[in-house]
Amino acid sequence: TIPQCALVIRPWSSAVNHGSDQLCKENSSFYITTPIFYVNAAPHLGHLYSAVIADCLHRWKLLQGFDSRFATGTDEHGLKIQQAAEAASKAPLTFCTEVSERFRNLFSSCNISFTDYIRTTEQRHRRAVEHFWSVLWNKGLIYKGSYEGWYSTQDESFLTPSQVGDALDPSGKEVKVSLESGHKVEWMKEENYMFRLSVFRPFLLDWLVKNPGAVQPERFHQTVLHWLQEDLPDLSVSRQRSRLQWGIPVPGDPEQTIYVWLDALVNYLTVVGYPDKHDQWWPVAHHVIGKDILKFHALYWPAFLLGAGLPLPQVIHVHSHWTVGGRKMSKSLGNVVDPFEHSRMFTNDGMRYFLLRQGVPDSDCDYTHDKVVKLLNAELADSLGGLLNRCTAPALNPAQVYPAFCSQAFCRAVAEDHHMVAAVRSLPTVVEKHYESMHVYKALEAISACVRQTNGFVQRHAPWKLDRRYSKEQRWLDTIVHVALECLRIYGTLLQPVVPEISDRLLTRLGVKQHERSWKDLHFLQRYEGTKCPFEGRMLGSDSGLLFNRLESQKQKAKKSHKSGHLK
Ligand code: MSP
Repeated sequence: TIPQCALVIRPWSSAVNHGSDQLCKENSSFYITTPIFYVNAAPHLGHLYSAVIADCLHRWKLLQGFDSRFATGTDEHGLKIQQAAEAASKAPLTFCTEVSERFRNLFSSCNISFTDYIRTTEQRHRRAVEHFWSVLWNKGLIYKGSYEGWYSTQDESFLTPSQVGDALDPSGKEVKVSLESGHKVEWMKEENYMFRLSVFRPFLLDWLVKNPGAVQPERFHQTVLHWLQEDLPDLSVSRQRSRLQWGIPVPGDPEQTIYVWLDALVNYLTVVGYPDKHDQWWPVAHHVIGKDILKFHALYWPAFLLGAGLPLPQVIHVHSHWTVGGRKMSKSLGNVVDPFEHSRMFTNDGMRYFLLRQGVPDSDCDYTHDKVVKLLNAELADSLGGLLNRCTAPALNPAQVYPAFCSQAFCRAVAEDHHMVAAVRSLPTVVEKHYESMHVYKALEAISACVRQTNGFVQRHAPWKLDRRYSKEQRWLDTIVHVALECLRIYGTLLQPVVPEISDRLLTRLGVKQHERSWKDLHFLQRYEGTKCPFEGRMLGSDSGLLFNRLESQKQKAKKSHKSGHLK
């Protein structure tokens, strides 16, 4: 029987946000989270990717004038961490602190501008989890039962028989594995607490049907709907203390430890002050997650929240994975990409740009050194860097000013120039749409196409060939440079969420002040419309060198070291 109080304390439909990706106009708060990272191993490129996506959306919201909060942190309880600490012969908390610091350092050094860093071993989190548990318990949504079935420690996940298959381990022994992750599973049978997940099936279905943007991209929304066609058994939410000591004890039953996923998911609430006042931020939550943890975020988490009478997240943004050599990164394959090393090699912004320009949320992407070099050289060094260099070079711009626009001179513009102006004018709206739906690669594609058009415009009119001694020519030259600098100002402003350091250098070089770099400053080429341009006549900022230094491919590097070997 379904406990009465389970569903009626707060009508669930009013707890769900309508029009998932549209924030209420009067509410300028925004809350974005990354998954919290397991501390059983060092950070890798995939982890950085989750963080970079969330950082990009957070910076975008700030640029738009939102009061945005951005949480990340580490997931430190559970069997997997307990075993990793044992293997390292360290006390669990010491072990967790060390690895958690590595994540924090990585994020700080890669300009991940989190406002909150949560560790599940903190006291504030324990209090939140205990409270959350008690709410579910008091509503009769948790009962004492027994679980018998498959468990994957690597995924910290319970699996039904249909989710399990046969495989051979590296020594050739037959083992059972999760069909989804490929990780080994074990049969377990124990007394523990169960959550009435099955009760929530129709409510989850209704939520997804009424909120088609709740899980994005659409493909993953469909996946969740498909899961809901099948049986949704109750979920074990605790483990026997004898098996799992490293976790939060069940309130009132010290013989049981709370299941690590229930513990971990509550982190999103802890950050915003739960169980105390949390209503400014919780209703505007957006989660960024990898596709491997969709079930936990789109089935278990909403069910827990509905049970606790809390609003559901506005959007769950799902991304796909990075592979290396076409395969999942793994220590045993030796193909794990170290994000520290690669960010040093390609610069922070280089790494961020590559991940967001090449990463497609719908499908996996393969990471190769030469792909990074090729893309960054073409788009950041040559195209964008080249354009800035050309238009600010003393030879072309000896006075080092933001030159004047002359409408009469602009009559020399041809059809392609007008197309470019139209494209740049609509660029902010195009970019907004793609950033908001986390299709950052499409936003960058659009910016990159405009940069190419601006380069074409400058190339076509070759201002360096104009003779300054004739005032008509001088005015046309100034107009060309003015238009190009206006384009660069728009690109620099729109690129801030992706490449904050490069954008800062670019905008500083153009003389654009800090308070002139937001959504409200994206009016393009105001002089063309007959209004005043605040930048016209202003001195350019100091030249801090190339925007992005060209990188060498592995082939070029090898050739060089071969040559220098010969010379010796
Ligand atoms: N601790 C859980 C999350 C709990 S959230 C309440 C967890 N941690 S994790 O460290 O394994 O993964 C964190 C994130 O990294 C996930 O979003 C995951 O998808 C992402 N990635 C892990 N490997 C990845 C790639 N190879 N590529 C892209 N992202 C990947 O799951």
